[in-house]
Amino acid sequence: MATQTHLDRLTELRDKKAEIRLGGGQDKIDKQHAGGKLSARERIDTLLDKNSFQEFSMFAQHRCTYFGMAGKPAPADGVITGVGKIDGRYVHFASQDFTVFGGSAGEIHCDKVVEAMQNSLKTGTPFVFMNDSGGARIQEGIDSLSGYAKVFYANVELSGVVPQISLIMGPCAGGAAYSPALTDFIIQTRQAQMFITGPSVIKQVTGEVVTPEELGGAEAQMHYSGVVHFVADDDEHAVGICKRLLSFLPNNNLEDAPLLPGEYSIGEVPGLNTVIPEDPRSPYDVRDVIKGVVDFADFMEVQETYAENMVVGFGRVAGRSVGIIANQPKVFAGVLDINSSDKAARFIRFCNAFNIPLLTFVDTPGFLPGVSQEQGGIIRHGAKVLFAYSAATVPKVSVILRKAYGGAYVAMCARDLGADRVFAWPTAEIAVMGADGAAEIVFKREIEAAEDRAEARAKFTETYRNTFSTPYVAGSRRMVDDILEPSHTRIAVAQALEVLSAKRELRPAKKHGLMPM
Ligand code: HXC
Repeated sequence: MATQTHLDRLTELRDKKAEIRLGGGQDKIDKQHAGGKLSARERIDTLLDKNSFQEFSMFAQHRCTYFGMAGKPAPADGVITGVGKIDGRYVHFASQDFTVFGGSAGEIHCDKVVEAMQNSLKTGTPFVFMNDSGGARIQEGIDSLSGYAKVFYANVELSGVVPQISLIMGPCAGGAAYSPALTDFIIQTRQAQMFITGPSVIKQVTGEVVTPEELGGAEAQMHYSGVVHFVADDDEHAVGICKRLLSFLPNNNLEDAPLLPGEYSIGEVPGLNTVIPEDPRSPYDVRDVIKGVVDFADFMEVQETYAENMVVGFGRVAGRSVGIIANQPKVFAGVLDINSSDKAARFIRFCNAFNIPLLTFVDTPGFLPGVSQEQGGIIRHGAKVLFAYSAATVPKVSVILRKAYGGAYVAMCARDLGADRVFAWPTAEIAVMGADGAAEIVFKREIEAAEDRAEARAKFTETYRNTFSTPYVAGSRRMVDDILEPSHTRIAVAQALEVLSAKRELRPAKKHGLMPM
């Protein structure tokens, strides 16, 4: 055999790389496109800044010899991993290649994912996992399970150190769904499905007939289960959401989110004076308040259609990232219930882990009464909000817009849960309960003895409201720092966040507290 020249070697290398880059072949890539999906490498190109991609372990191969697998090539072993830049900042990532054995995950595939994750950990950079896989590679048997377990373990190691974002862009079934579940945010496309047990297993076990979409489509996993944080129309949209989300986040838990030197103006926002309707029972959209406070009215809502009585998401005030938690009076009057408590608590924990200040807008009549809530464990779930806020050491700024009643007032980051600044609007009603209910109890005898009970009830309700359902009693007790003209809220919040950016709060050392779960 003739000795290879340098040129031969270069040609061989180029050919090998071209072959690997083609994954399972052009026909399978075409099938991917026909299904409205990008290929694994096209997704990476969409994600990263041009020419910033450095690939890891491109030549990796499985070692499986069972079921005809011996010597069967699996380009990049079905997952492309590496590092690159998004808007000039490094991220590590993995992108499963469905054209190679259905993106199934065996020993080496999983090792590659873990290698990329460990590089995230070493360098303090976010990790992005683009999922499109038939799950554990069946031919590799328990080696696949071992591989997945290593991914889960790494997910937990990274948790709270670097942001982890999962994109679900194809099937994500069985135990494989637990890797995304261990990450901070899940973005799912409408083409993808995510479930633990699929429709055929459900039919066998329970007899129920469901479609994959009903079971694990993006809408289902957002609206009913709250597993998903963002629904994307397609792969490009999902990648766009991922990039926008990362723009609000720091690279790791030791850094602050990027401070954007913006062209924003910090001045009065007259529109805020008229957001709250005259009738205290009338609803309004709390997003109108949020948009009046954040820069450029730019608010990135998280879990938009899950537990809609609570609105959470990211914005910036004077260029500084904030995590916003707000009761939504438009949905169930902004009541706190099981799902909204879980939604808020999780979001607060994320922000605290990554040094993102908390900005809370309060308008809630209380916790939702009812047997289903009590039996569902509202005590345990509501306690998560109390725990998350109390444990949070990032700057905490609360703005009480209207109703702030009872335990829900406390839960929404009251002064005594460690809020660094509490502002109230003149419409704020900070009270142990609503004036109607309170008057019924406090003035029960007087109302019963009155000739015109309705008139007496109205009079005593007014008396109670004038005494307690205003921000002035709370102001006199220093539970409120200032009562603001709503139009001044943006200025007050910006000032508070600027000075509080230097906040340091030390707590006693412990292994960890026990957050109610
Ligand atoms: C090996 C797999 C595979 C798998 C798919 N393929 N899943 N190979 N292991 N898990 C292969 C197929 O054989 C096929 O190969 C190619 O990928 C494309 O699959 P299709 O079935 O043709 O595609 P599609 O019709 O789009 O269906 C996709 C699918 C289906 C819904 C994902 O393939 C499927 O149901 N796969 C099995 C899913 C599953 O049961 N996984 C194990 C779950 S257990 P060819 O050569 O024909 O192109 C699990 C446990 C993890 O994940 C536990 C962690 C703790």
